[in-house]
Amino acid sequence: MIDQPTTDLPPIFVALDMSEAEVAPLMGALDGLNVGYKVGMELFYQSGASLVKRLAADHPIFLDLKLHDIPNTVRSAGARIADLGVRVTTVHAAGGAAMLAPLPALERDDFQFLAVTVLTSMNNSDLAGLGVLDANPAARVQRLFQLATGSGITGFICSPLEVAALSGQLPNGTFITPGVRPAGAALNDQNRVATPAQAKQSGATSLVIGRPITQAQDPRAAAQAILDELAHG
Ligand code: C5P
Repeated sequence: MIDQPTTDLPPIFVALDMSEAEVAPLMGALDGLNVGYKVGMELFYQSGASLVKRLAADHPIFLDLKLHDIPNTVRSAGARIADLGVRVTTVHAAGGAAMLAPLPALERDDFQFLAVTVLTSMNNSDLAGLGVLDANPAARVQRLFQLATGSGITGFICSPLEVAALSGQLPNGTFITPGVRPAGAALNDQNRVATPAQAKQSGATSLVIGRPITQAQDPRAAAQAILDELAHG
């Protein structure tokens, strides 16, 4: 279990929502910048743990597989992930206290679990459809946050609009936020967004940014502009 947050995470994790063939050209374009990379289900299920291990040898990697299963399975999977060399990885807080509680013991100085509370794609009617009695996303986020912190989890993935409330309750925690768009950038399918500077000022430790960098005409310039905004904004 770590007592302090993983303080040296990169300011940005670039989301590698792409095929394996597209990864090397993008990383080449961003070579030398202070960024990490997020490997999600799309790339993981194409290229697996061997690619993750290779990337993690040279870069800070966020492995985003959002584990949610019985406690024994998640603990065993978490132990395997710890050996891949990634810096952070995700689990669903909704897996419950028994699933979350063994995970902090698997953490290392440079490896931490992040809990996902309520997916930002879900609204009140989605929660009601699941039979969640308190069908209010903000209340649900708060409840799952308390459940996870009570199980020793100190890292969270959350929207830039939630991060201030949560980081205020856990000042030493790690808070990684997607849903970030530089001013004037295309929203794509994100709705509730904040700029990089706003997310940082609200307490985000690191940002996950995909398409504003990966689909920019000049990905390096786009990433550098965001790093500059975070450094000076
Ligand atoms: O391209 P964009 O910047 O929207 O990418 C954001 C990344 O963060 C994607 O990989 C997406 O799956 C992920 N994500 C998100 N919202 C969440 C959790 C993860 O956008 N609540």
